[in-house]
Amino acid sequence: MPILITGVAGFIGFHLAEVLLGQGRQVIGVDNLNDYYDPALKQARLERLTADANFRFHKIDIAERVAVEMLAAEYRDITGVVHLASQAGVRYSLVNPYAYTNANVEGHLVLLEAARRLPDLKHFVYASSSSVYGANTKLPFAVTDRTDNPVSLYGATKKTMEVMSDSYARMWNLPLTGLRFFTVYGPWGRPDMAAFIFIRKILAGEPIPVFNNGDMMRDFTYIDDIVAGVVACLDRPPEPSNSEPPHRLYNIGNNNSEPLMRFIEILEDALGRKAEYDFLPMQPGDVRATYADIEATRRDFGFEPSTPIDVGLPRLVNWYRDYYGA
Ligand SMILES: NC(=O)c1ccc[n+]([C@@H]2O[C@H](COP(=O)([O-])OP(=O)(O)OC[C@H]3O[C@@H](n4cnc5c(N)ncnc54)[C@H](O)[C@@H]3O)[C@@H](O)[C@H]2O)c1
Repeated sequence: MPILITGVAGFIGFHLAEVLLGQGRQVIGVDNLNDYYDPALKQARLERLTADANFRFHKIDIAERVAVEMLAAEYRDITGVVHLASQAGVRYSLVNPYAYTNANVEGHLVLLEAARRLPDLKHFVYASSSSVYGANTKLPFAVTDRTDNPVSLYGATKKTMEVMSDSYARMWNLPLTGLRFFTVYGPWGRPDMAAFIFIRKILAGEPIPVFNNGDMMRDFTYIDDIVAGVVACLDRPPEPSNSEPPHRLYNIGNNNSEPLMRFIEILEDALGRKAEYDFLPMQPGDVRATYADIEATRRDFGFEPSTPIDVGLPRLVNWYRDYYGA
């Protein structure tokens, strides 16, 4: 009863695979190991997974239709898909927009097409993002809020994935759930994200970029809480219904919007060093605040994030020191 995880060498995919393998499940992992950030970190994550006999890895680009079709033919008994492979990052979507349509739109379509033909598939879970809320200023963000005004192409492609999924649920009765993740952080995290950049620069004695002069709020969510939510969701596909297509959307966040400056202070304490700040204006594509309304996620999956940033950030710092010998 294998579970297919796309983006398995990525931050969230790696942690999810570790947990599923720890439960004795079989995991088929896919990733193209691209160099958007240091591929050595992706390889290091993979090496930990390949130690488990229940893990199989395939280096595949999910936008390559033939490769994905061959994979689906090899593993006809896949019962669950967790689709995490995407071109992530808000700011890079201003630099290389085609990477986003390729991985997030074309890649999502290729997977949906393969998934609808899998005879035993019970549930297809995919990663959406808080970025779909875009210019929405009502906080906290509720799943029913408007999502048709994204402020970045990244957000637009994530919204596209949601809309495409809805059509596949309607046309093919494919059970799908989209999870809107809110700023995930933790050990083995992403080098392009704020926490990682701040740690690296503080340790190097370089100034850290603080956008919107520090007037930012984020619902920072610890990786273990995210993974617990994904696993709970995977095991609970949408109930069959005669009136509704089997497609749902949920927020997965910490349900606690933290000021950026507090986030930085906790990092400074954990590192035992003061940061030098480079105060900058708001970046194009960014939003001032994110905050997840998780009532539905609590109700349907028992999702209960339990890691505040004063606990999670020191864990990230410990891992960073250990991994980079810093
Ligand atoms: N980390 C966050 O804060 C966050 C927030 C919101 C949404 N998300 C979404 O969650 C998912 C996982 O994010 P992450 O933080 O683990 O990112 P990540 O970049 O660490 O992982 C994504 C993985 O997908 C792989 N990949 C990218 N394009 C591919 C392609 N065309 N074919 C095969 N593999 C490909 C990459 O090599 C990478 O290993 C993504 O869909 C992302 O958009 C993440």
